[in-house]
Amino acid sequence: MARLLAWVRTVAVAFGLLFMAMGLASSPATAQVNPNGSAVQEQQLLNQLKTIQGLGTIPDTRSYVLEHPAGRDWQYFHNVTLRWISAIAILGFFAVLVIFYLVRGSVKLESGFSGRKIVRFNWFERFVHWMTAVCFIILGLTGLNITFGRPLLLPLIGADSFTAWSEWAKYAHNFLSFPFTIGVVLIALIWIAGNIPNRVDVEWLKEGGGIVGDKHPAAERFNAGQKVVYWVVVLGGALVAITGYVLMFPFYGTTIDNMQWAQMVHAVAAALFIAFMLGHIYIGTIGMEGAFEAMGEGTVDVNWAREHHSLWLSKEMGREDKPARTVPAE
Ligand code: HEM
Repeated sequence: MARLLAWVRTVAVAFGLLFMAMGLASSPATAQVNPNGSAVQEQQLLNQLKTIQGLGTIPDTRSYVLEHPAGRDWQYFHNVTLRWISAIAILGFFAVLVIFYLVRGSVKLESGFSGRKIVRFNWFERFVHWMTAVCFIILGLTGLNITFGRPLLLPLIGADSFTAWSEWAKYAHNFLSFPFTIGVVLIALIWIAGNIPNRVDVEWLKEGGGIVGDKHPAAERFNAGQKVVYWVVVLGGALVAITGYVLMFPFYGTTIDNMQWAQMVHAVAAALFIAFMLGHIYIGTIGMEGAFEAMGEGTVDVNWAREHHSLWLSKEMGREDKPARTVPAE
């Protein structure tokens, strides 16, 4: 009798194992994982089954998928490839600017300051510029926190501070996206007239724009370099805004695949955008004597206007409807 019982037990165990094996084989794409199960061998399951799926109570069953191959490819992009692209673009371009400054130095005002100033940007233009610029800088820093915060900042400031800062950073990134978008739209509208490429730009570029070399090629209100900045801001701003809102409002007509694309385009475009804008900040500050005042006070020295925007100056001086307001410096 005892031998019979032992035999029955052995057969039952064998069938049990067989059924378990069949169960696994019949659902190779997914596995139900009890998240509370203490003995879940996550990596082993992932290797065997490719997908780990949990249990959920909300109607959207996509949210039950905890890990799947496309997610891991995307995670690799986010944690490795994106960090390399961003670091090379931003630090690489920063290094180029430092070398350029050391070799070329600041573009000086050759004829010196005349003491007479001419209005270049009115208060509304300056307001729109600075609103967009401040939003851009904060969006850039808070966005880079998502890309680099965990490996760089977390070990430095500890988990509690990093959590608190990241929460604020995320709020800032979400909410400042709105004034940033308004700013980009206003920039597109108020400066479009001066930013359509024309023949003057070709000559300006041939002469190196006065930045490479010492010539002072003629330019209208915006030279070819500034026109490039304008279009990068308008088109780059539109790209990060569209992909950013896709990320901010997930799954409104988008799939997981769409979301991953939106994240990749947003992050790479943002990295290139930040790198490019370093060049703009450089020229507007230490790269060119007398340039910052244009956006700071709204006026530039008449000699500066003659050297860098001669066609614009002549036009402003000759305007009969609204003669240029030149003021002596204090
Ligand atoms: C309308 C404008 C924008 C919107 C709506 C927006 C929205 C978003 C959202 C929702 C995320 C994902 C956040 C998360 O994973 O929790 C994100 C990430 C990010 N954003 Fe923006 N953003 C905008 C503009 C910008 C700008 C102008 C920059 C750069 C100057 C920027 C840089 C970044 C970066 C670097 C990331 C992190 C990418 C990553 O590592 O995953 N964003 N943005």
